[in-house]
Amino acid sequence: MEVIILASAAEVGQLATRKVARTIQHKPTAVLGLATGSSPQAIYAGLAAQVRDGALVTSDVRAFALDEYVGLPAEHPQSYASVIRREVTEPLGLNPAHVFVPDGCANDLEGACQQYEAAIDAAGGVDLQILGIGANGHIGFNEPTSSLSSRTRLKTLALQTRADNARFFDHPDDVPTHCVTQGLGTIMDASEVLLLAQGTAKAAAIASAVEGPVSARCPGSVLQFHRRATLILDEAAAEQLTLRDYYRHTYANKPDWQRF
Ligand code: F6R
Repeated sequence: MEVIILASAAEVGQLATRKVARTIQHKPTAVLGLATGSSPQAIYAGLAAQVRDGALVTSDVRAFALDEYVGLPAEHPQSYASVIRREVTEPLGLNPAHVFVPDGCANDLEGACQQYEAAIDAAGGVDLQILGIGANGHIGFNEPTSSLSSRTRLKTLALQTRADNARFFDHPDDVPTHCVTQGLGTIMDASEVLLLAQGTAKAAAIASAVEGPVSARCPGSVLQFHRRATLILDEAAAEQLTLRDYYRHTYANKPDWQRF
């Protein structure tokens, strides 16, 4: 894993935006994996600004969301279908026909999950998966003890996740109890992953994911097995990493040709 520690959340957003923009410039038909939530918002805003300025062309980009709540209709403002449309598809000018979100209202959820996996395969797989991490170590909505080789499926949200996401709803009880999420195995199939974390609330999860044992107890730790995983953190999210001076030294001495 490459661990990059930057002074502020704003710098995290800027560098991560550069990384994603470079992926799209290199491959205009790139397949992006999209996280929702607060962590990647600066990326989406940064890319949207580049598209507005004419510096980036996204018309051929394809995208797959990580997850969706079960039981929230797509029109609900907090469904991830709505969030992705509002924060990604429209501002980046993506073709809506090329943006996919798991169906959390399908009668046959299991069949819909299999179709989602098949659609990712048919697109040639995800080139760059954008991730946040939950305070409990989840990536996607793969809560602690998720199988490290899991595929897209139904999951029960952890109590902590429901409490953390209550900020998006009128009442904590309105947060759905279940979700459909890409599995850890699905995420691991992406050619490259980019995880962002900002703030002290993520510090323990980041320390477990990066320096802890690989364990389903901290689902993010599975990324230790990924060949191309980059984590971009602000100082607060990095504060429990015991090797943080090494990560800083490594990044400061990174050869120019490897930088993005
Ligand atoms: C969202 C997702 C989650 C979030 C995580 C962090 O699609 O898959 O894993 O990335 O819960 O959420 P924020 O970024 O809101 O702190």
